[in-house]
Amino acid sequence: MPLSSSQDIPLDELLSVATAAARQAGAVLTECTRTGFRIEHKQLINLVTDADHQAEQCIIDVIHKAFPTHPVLAEERGLTEQPPSRYKWVIDPLDGTTNFAHGFPAYCVSIGVECDGQGIIGVVYDPTRNELFTAQIGQGARLNGMPITVSSADHLDRALLVTGFGYDIRENPNNNLNHFARFALKVQGLRRTGTAALDLCYVAAGRFDGFWEVKLNPWDMAAGVVILLEAGGKVSDFTGRSHSIYGQELVASNGILHQSMLDVLREEATPGNV
Ligand code: IPD
Ligand code: CA
Ligand code: CA
Repeated sequence: MPLSSSQDIPLDELLSVATAAARQAGAVLTECTRTGFRIEHKQLINLVTDADHQAEQCIIDVIHKAFPTHPVLAEERGLTEQPPSRYKWVIDPLDGTTNFAHGFPAYCVSIGVECDGQGIIGVVYDPTRNELFTAQIGQGARLNGMPITVSSADHLDRALLVTGFGYDIRENPNNNLNHFARFALKVQGLRRTGTAALDLCYVAAGRFDGFWEVKLNPWDMAAGVVILLEAGGKVSDFTGRSHSIYGQELVASNGILHQSMLDVLREEATPGNV
């Protein structure tokens, strides 16, 4: 019988529903790459595909079968209409839509759960590599069931960082190109994968040492932030203050490099400095 939202739901139960939803949505995405899908333009460079919508419906169905009263904040549909609840699911059915539409295999399904406003569950599934990143609050983070931790890189010279750009890059002067140019001259390597949820998981797994972005949405971050924190990482806004998935800025790191990243983000443009 589904549990009511007024009860304390065991974390294992939430994780198991989130995992099932992520895997099923991943299968939907994979099937769409086989059968084909339609692409629409939300804006000039902001795409959405049939696969986004089908995966989103799949996730909401799985969640509501288990927890019919839980609100879901989903990228394509917004917030579902439910009575107030301690729980909220925050989902991105396809993070990396541009990659997906081009056949570039870097995308994922992202599912986070909040209780009383705090992220308590994170599940990110990459169907192209069959990699499942999971975390429950207080219980560490895992990749395909094996514990993961952040890297021990202690200097930007030895760090591989990742970032991303919003779809308003052409119109918004705060488009991250200034930060990108400065970091590029200070780090070992800098990447732009096009999937923020996986970027967070890769910092959690020690594949990247840090990640920042100026304009993310809650569904990009909800799951990955729980996974990163449980892997021993750190998140903040650009001033170093506490991070909220409902703010836009994100600095995520292995903790050791956090202050160095904030220092670069704070640098003023000076001659020789972008
Ligand atoms: C985007 C990706 C990208 C990030 C953008 C996001 P979407 O999400 O996460 O890496 O740079 O800011 O909007 O549109 O592919 O779900
Ligand atoms: Ca996204
Ligand atoms: Ca998306």
